Amino acid sequence: MPAPLNAQLANTYPLHLATLAERTTRALEATGFDALLLHSGSRLMVFEDDRTYPFIAHAPFRAWAPLNDAPDSFIYVAPGQRPRLILHQPRDYWHQPPAVPSGYWAEHFDIRTVPEPSAARAQLPQNLSDTAYIGDPLPELEPWGVRAVNPAALMRRLDYARAQKTAYEIVCLREANRTGVAGHRAAREAFYADASEFEIELAFLRASGLREQELPYNPIVALNAAAAVLHYQLLGRSPPPERHSMLIDAGTEFAGYASDITRTYARQADDFAALIEAMDRLQQRLAHEVRPGLDWRALHLRCHELLATLLHEADLVRCPPEEALARGLTRLFLPHGLGHLLGLEVHDVGARLASPEGPEEIPRPHADPALRLTRVLEPGFVVTLEPGLYFIDSLLEGARADGRAGLLNWTRIGELARCGGIRIEDDLVVTPAGCENLTREAFQSAG
Ligand code: GLY
Ligand code: MN
Ligand code: MN
Repeated sequence: MPAPLNAQLANTYPLHLATLAERTTRALEATGFDALLLHSGSRLMVFEDDRTYPFIAHAPFRAWAPLNDAPDSFIYVAPGQRPRLILHQPRDYWHQPPAVPSGYWAEHFDIRTVPEPSAARAQLPQNLSDTAYIGDPLPELEPWGVRAVNPAALMRRLDYARAQKTAYEIVCLREANRTGVAGHRAAREAFYADASEFEIELAFLRASGLREQELPYNPIVALNAAAAVLHYQLLGRSPPPERHSMLIDAGTEFAGYASDITRTYARQADDFAALIEAMDRLQQRLAHEVRPGLDWRALHLRCHELLATLLHEADLVRCPPEEALARGLTRLFLPHGLGHLLGLEVHDVGARLASPEGPEEIPRPHADPALRLTRVLEPGFVVTLEPGLYFIDSLLEGARADGRAGLLNWTRIGELARCGGIRIEDDLVVTPAGCENLTREAFQSAG
């Protein structure tokens, strides 16, 4: 029986903070700074309106403190000192200002509150000439005398290190999977109850306990052929007259950390249902290969090899798998990458950096410009694994025009195209021996 969530957070946060402090100290030393000032971000007004876009605190700030609703606040980090949170607490009777935080993380901070952002200056050391700042380029910064705004060499080091999650971050990501799976189960039920895309999203929100702006990305709920649009965004308000399939790509957030989960369902036990099962097996075969030392680009290419065999077995191509691969047919059906880093951002930073020092990136395979992750896996990396197979008109029509028409089984494609496509996406933690699948564990625990 795992410890209650609050105990897990309280037990793991101190080491998370120590790890962040250590990474920051090393990065500051290497880049010639002596302190770091992090900004939470500012509210952004809608043009000529008096409302703002939903506020999302900057990820480098959230890495230290899970404060999602504290605009114009700062964290000051100097090696060997307690981190200082300068919380902007406006005297505002139109909105509820953020409360002074307490609990598992707040007790590790020196917390000061200020009624306006400019008052934060008095809470900082007099001399900021060796301080690096990460955040919005506020007009105040010049008179404050900080040395550098968003210095690339420092940020690269921090971004590079962020790929390796601490035990605390894994606790948060596991919890985001638990709530994400609760949403997915409710969405599946709504699909089989013949709900519209919009109602399916509402079922997801209700079960996950979050409003849309608290999600790490807008849910993709695609009934039938709409699943061929990779990031389909129209939530249809009425149920379609016929129902064949649903692709739902939806995740939740916990303490600033995201889950990113996709499932595909068939309404009937038909050929499309069999294709979903085959894709599920393919995804699991790939998951067995995830371990430290694996070049993600190699796994992406392996996915295309397995997909070539699957397309052949499903009678979607009229040539042997080797030829399907060589002629680029798998990329007609799967134009996106196999996965990406996951964490404070859904597509987390540093995924193609060759080293913490240099600006060089690890190149993507020539044929795969959409691959987001090119690094070699290390223990503690959290990645998504999301193979897909879609019937995308524009890509298939392109192949018809470029001389590959005879290699495709158009009759079979025509029969399945009404279902749009398949994506199966889980969140994996790389462990010393292989990987742990946070998403499948959450589905299993939910029953
Ligand atoms: N939900 C976006 C993605 O899967 O990358
Ligand atoms: Mn993803
Ligand atoms: Mn996704």
